[in-house]
Amino acid sequence: MRSKVILKNSLWKWYLLPKDSNSLYMIRLAPGPVEVGGVHLANHLLLAAGVLGTTGASLARILNTGAGGVVTKSLGPRPFPGHPGPCIAAFDGYMLNAMGLPNPSRGFRDEWGPLRGQPVIVSIFGGTPEEFRTVAGWFIDLAAGFELNLSCPHAEGFGSALGSDPSIVEDCTRVVADLGLPTWVKLTPNVTDIVEIGIAAQDGGATALVAINTLKGMRISTELCRPVLGNRFGGVSGSAIFPVSIRCVYELFDACSIPIIGCGGIRTASDVLEMIMAGASAVQIGSAVMEDEHIFQGIAAELYSPTGINAEEILGCAHD
Ligand SMILES: Cc1cc2nc3c(=O)[nH]c(=O)nc-3n(C[C@H](O)[C@H](O)[C@H](O)COP(=O)(O)O)c2cc1C
Repeated sequence: MRSKVILKNSLWKWYLLPKDSNSLYMIRLAPGPVEVGGVHLANHLLLAAGVLGTTGASLARILNTGAGGVVTKSLGPRPFPGHPGPCIAAFDGYMLNAMGLPNPSRGFRDEWGPLRGQPVIVSIFGGTPEEFRTVAGWFIDLAAGFELNLSCPHAEGFGSALGSDPSIVEDCTRVVADLGLPTWVKLTPNVTDIVEIGIAAQDGGATALVAINTLKGMRISTELCRPVLGNRFGGVSGSAIFPVSIRCVYELFDACSIPIIGCGGIRTASDVLEMIMAGASAVQIGSAVMEDEHIFQGIAAELYSPTGINAEEILGCAHD
């Protein structure tokens, strides 16, 4: 359990600066590097796995447009082309995707040229703890840390198929954490109790939890009388899932002692502050980057100020 946050109420007035699109006043944070779960980041804002992070060049571009760190597309034990299309569909307030974890596997090493020395977290997946360890081993000399994808809702035998079982989560985490690099575990919201899974990852040696991956969902085309996605089922992402990701971070913060990285539906500086108040030490942004590649610069311009407060001062402040 964590110690309670005591708000410095008397000082708050100095930190409240006009303005943000949703509210009259908004807290600002001090800019500068942060350390989260053993990884050194340029700021609190990361690119989420799988979104524009499919090549070294695209990841480097995102780092150059203000992201504090990036997570690669999830890499697995074998190259895979992904599910048949349609793989992605956009709706009002959310997206639905079933990419099926397309990836070049070990071949992603060839993409590393523009990424040397950068805060790049390698997202990995496998069907067994041994496969997780093998894939991590291929990137041990390159990665700033690993993110274990135990949460994809549309890849049979991978992702949430493993990530719903606490003992498998603990085993997969342990074999990777034992390699000695920072090990983040990305959790699925598609479980009855996300806290049980978070504790299992923590017990396995995770240095941080990432909450959340997409929610399992589907849509049906009323013109074609068929599911919209080739895979029928997919993952829901974007602003519509923000209340779910906030709830998951909030619950994990109460029960776990390692840092939590909030992900799911974030698209404004105010969303980032809300995540930090729920208990997130950093955030990842996915779907919103597909709409605006310069979103990191835009959020940073609103979120940070030289007179801002340390994020620690509001970390988890929404808890009793
Ligand atoms: C097109 C697309 C591809 C994704 N690929 C991955 C992936 O390879 N690995 C992973 O862990 N999550 C993947 N995700 C999930 C995102 O990293 C993120 O957890 C999710 O989209 C919620 O965040 P958002 O609402 O900001 O998009 C993908 C999401 C989208 C939309």
